[in-house]
Formats: sequence, structure tokens, C-alpha cells
Amino acid sequence: MPVKNKRIVVLISGSGSNLQSIIDACQTGQIQGKIVAVISNRPNAYGLERAQQAGIQVMVIDHKHYEERDSFDHALQSYIDEQQADLVVLAGFMRILTENFVQHYHGKMLNIHPSLLPAYKGTHTHQRVLDDGGTKHGASVHFVTPELDGGPVVLQASVPILTDDTAETLAKRVLQQEHQIYPKVVEWFCAERLVLRDGLPHLDGKILRRPDYYSQRHS
Ligand code: GRF
Repeated sequence: MPVKNKRIVVLISGSGSNLQSIIDACQTGQIQGKIVAVISNRPNAYGLERAQQAGIQVMVIDHKHYEERDSFDHALQSYIDEQQADLVVLAGFMRILTENFVQHYHGKMLNIHPSLLPAYKGTHTHQRVLDDGGTKHGASVHFVTPELDGGPVVLQASVPILTDDTAETLAKRVLQQEHQIYPKVVEWFCAERLVLRDGLPHLDGKILRRPDYYSQRHS
């Protein structure tokens, strides 16, 4: 049976360059899916313009208008569910989500994090790895679970750290890799090749026991 086009909702807070890479991959047909809405918790996020330029419906749900985390997440969830989303993509979405919200989208929500998880969960990953004198850094795409940046990793890409790197130059190189791996994982999910089963990501029926580095092996 042919796989039906998946309905994707993307959550952003900022520039939306990862969103752009997914928009592009939908437009070329790499991803068998359609971004049905982009939601930002910040009214001035540049990603909203990217979405509008691509003719995608946008919605601002400003967290500042909600006193409780629960009520913000509730508003978010209602809107996402109205869109009948098959997949929720967090793309630079800078809010911690409640456990109820995360459970509601179990196996249907992805995030990208700028580190080689499980190293450097949380923020300021580029500066932290430089401060530690690390030799490599990277990005990870993972299913979202209640533990912050702790869900099962699907795919990673690494970059070497150069002697004259600053947090900015390193972040730029990592971001280029993010734009390769995020559309790839969304492609797999939408083609029903990637599923989360018993807490482990499976690709083409096989457990991804440890995150595969992005390579030509993945087509
Ligand atoms: C990326 O580095 C992503 O890994 C992190 O936030 C940044 C978002 O960048 N979660 P953009 O908004 O996609 O350009």
C-alpha cells in the first residue's frame, strides 16, 4: 500500500534554518509529507517569515501570555491536534515541554540538539565543548521523551573542532550538518521506515542500537 503523505507541524522559536531545510525537502519530494503549520512561541521569530514565504500556515502561541507551563502546553496541544498532525518537529523550539504534552506525542515528536548526545545536554553546547578542550562536536536528532535532550537518538553528524574555533564558527559548521540530518530523519519517519518501538528507534525494522553517523550508507 502506498504511504499517505504525512501531516507535519513544526515548532520554532528563532531563525528557522532547520525549518527551511525541511521545507526544501518537502518541496523536492524527498520528504513524503506536508508542513501543515508552523508554530512559534515568539512573535518575531524569523522562521515565521520563511514559513509564510513557502505558503505555510503560521501560528504564534506566545508563552508570555500564559501563567502556567501547563496552560501554554494545553494551547499548543489543542492547536497541533486541530491540524491532525502525524509528526511534530521541534526545530530550535526553546521551551521545556510538560511530561503530559510529551507523552501525548510519544513516538511522533522529534528534536534536533547541537551536540553528540548524550554529551552536552542543555544549552550553550558549543562553548561548553570548547571550554572542555574537546576535539569533536556535532548534532543529534532524537525522539522526544520527558527527559530533556534524553530521548533515543536516531542520527548524528559530527564535525572536528578546529584550533581557532569560536562558539560561533563551530555552531555554523554544526548547523550545516543539522540541515543534512534533520530532513533525512523526517524523510524516514514520513516514509514509515522509522518507528519508535519498545523505547528504541527502528529503521527498516532494525533497531538503531547506537546512533549511526550520517554517511552515504543512508539513502
Ligand atoms: C539549532 O542549533 C538547533 O540544534 C537548536 O537550535 C538551533 C536552531 O536553529 N535546537 P534554527 O532556528 O533552526 O536556525
